[in-house]
Order: sequence, then structure tokens, then C-alpha cells
Amino acid sequence: MARTSFLLAGLELKNRVLVASGTYGYGDDCIDMADPAKLGGLITKSLSLKPRVGNPPVRIVETAGGMLNSIGLANIGVHRFVKERLPFLRSVDTAVIANIAASTVEEYCEVLRILEGEDGIDGFEINVSCPNVMEGGLTFGTNCGAVADITRRLRPLTKKPLLVKLTPNVTHIAEFARAVEGEGGDAVSVINTLIGMAIDVRTRKPVLSTVTGGLSGPAIKPVALAKVYEVARSVRIPVLGIGGITTASDALEFLIAGASAVQIGTANFVDPAAGIKVAAGIERYCDENGIADVGSLVGSLDVGKGVSILDSWL
Ligand code: FUM
Repeated sequence: MARTSFLLAGLELKNRVLVASGTYGYGDDCIDMADPAKLGGLITKSLSLKPRVGNPPVRIVETAGGMLNSIGLANIGVHRFVKERLPFLRSVDTAVIANIAASTVEEYCEVLRILEGEDGIDGFEINVSCPNVMEGGLTFGTNCGAVADITRRLRPLTKKPLLVKLTPNVTHIAEFARAVEGEGGDAVSVINTLIGMAIDVRTRKPVLSTVTGGLSGPAIKPVALAKVYEVARSVRIPVLGIGGITTASDALEFLIAGASAVQIGTANFVDPAAGIKVAAGIERYCDENGIADVGSLVGSLDVGKGVSILDSWL
């Protein structure tokens, strides 16, 4: 049996497959359909200081090979999360990473401080990349100085793994990853959704209430893979690959491109056990190919004499 575990900044994950923020609720929603203990970890829906109702409907649209969302960071707020949802998460035998969203740097710090004081949270993922809100989100995520500043302000507040989830809606995502690394961030999640839109041709109106939203699912996998490839060669901290991963083969591509672990997102809406199946498939691949440690796949891409346009940016 191949070794599957992975040490993420001191946090032991039993395997390299996590479920992504916003696709698995607060961890308890899917318990009847999939056992989170078989995952490397689960990442909560973004938590803000106050509850948020999110954007008005329509806020989800199916697209070819993907999904557009404009949820607007709807969540119950950190205080209700601690009271109502965290007790269950404490009983789950997997790493729990709290995703934090905010519209000011002070709010990020406040939410992290509240969660840091509670048992049951093993790490933090900072969302600076939601494309569906006017304040916070991409205002931070597309500004390298702001991403650096947020990481710098949060770093002293916790010794637990501090991950920053990056947006692909920038020219050179590697610069943002380097900013996170430079300020002591432990890992980057690459990528959040791509800005997209859909139009109803009968009414000539946008389908989403916010006109644009975030595109996820298999449609974005090749983009995500190239971003992971770019980032993984630019930083030493681990990259958590995310973007359209549905099968073990998809996940293997991300590991080979340089991701140390992967997150399963949109696939959870089709099959809440997708992450568990991906983890089992990776293990099977390793056993069939005589690979003793899944970690040996990370960054094992053989480009031969191939030269990418990305090389000139690094
Ligand atoms: O609109 C949303 O809640 C999406 C969040 C995200 O993509 O980070």
C-alpha cells in the first residue's frame, strides 16, 4: 500500500485530497452520503464576522462542462458556526480548515482570532479571491500588496497552517503566491473561480443577478492546471491544486504538475463522495505502478524539451 499521508505545515493529513470551501457546507451537511474521515481534510464554507445572506437569485447556472456561481459569500457567520456547527466538526476524524472571508483586513483578523480560540479548527484558508462581492474578494485578491498585507497581519495570530486562496483573474498568479510566501503564509490554494457570465437570449438579460459570477468545474481544469504548474515552480511552500478535479486521473495531473495536495470542488455537487473516490483512485494508481509514496508524484512532470510561454514570466 502506498504512503498517502502529507504534512501540511505541521498538520498531518491522512491523504492528499480535501474538499473545497463552498462545496461541502460546514462539513456536517454531507455526512449521510460520504464519510469525511476518509478525506485528507475538509474546508468550510467561507466564514465572515457577521452572517451574510449573499446575493439575490439567480445565483447558480449550469454551463457547458461547468457551473457559474454568484453566491455572495452567504454564511451563518463565525459566532453561529462556533456554536452550532463546530461541535460536530470536533468529532470528525479529518483535518478541518476554516475558510475566512472579509471585507476589511481587521475583519479577517477578528474572525481568525475567534476561531483560533476554539478547539476543532486545524488550519485556516484565507479567501481573497471571491469574484462575487463588491467589498473584499477580488479588491484584495487582484492587488499583490493587499494580499501581502493580509498575510502579514494574519501570520502572527496563529501557529496553525495559514493558506491563502488565490484568484486566477490576474496576469501573473505566481507574483501573488510569492507575496504570500514572503509574508510567512504556509501554502496557497490555486485556483478560485474564473470570472464568467451567461446571457438569456430570449430576454437579452444576464442569467445571474450579479451579471457575472465565478466559473468552476471541468471546464476550468486546463486553466487551473497551468496556474498550478506556474505557481509550483515559483514558490517553495505547498500548492493545493483546485479547479475542475472530478476523477483520480484529474487529481494525478495536478500532483504531477506540482500540487502537493488537491481540493475537490464542483464535483461534490454531483457526488458528495467524489473526494473519497479520488483518494482511493490515487492509491490504486500508486499500487498498480509500484509507487511507494504519493508524494513522489508531486512535481514529477517530464516536459522533455518542451518550453512553455510561462517560463519567460517566472
Ligand atoms: O460567491 C461566493 O460565495 C463564492 C465564493 C468564492 O468563490 O470564493
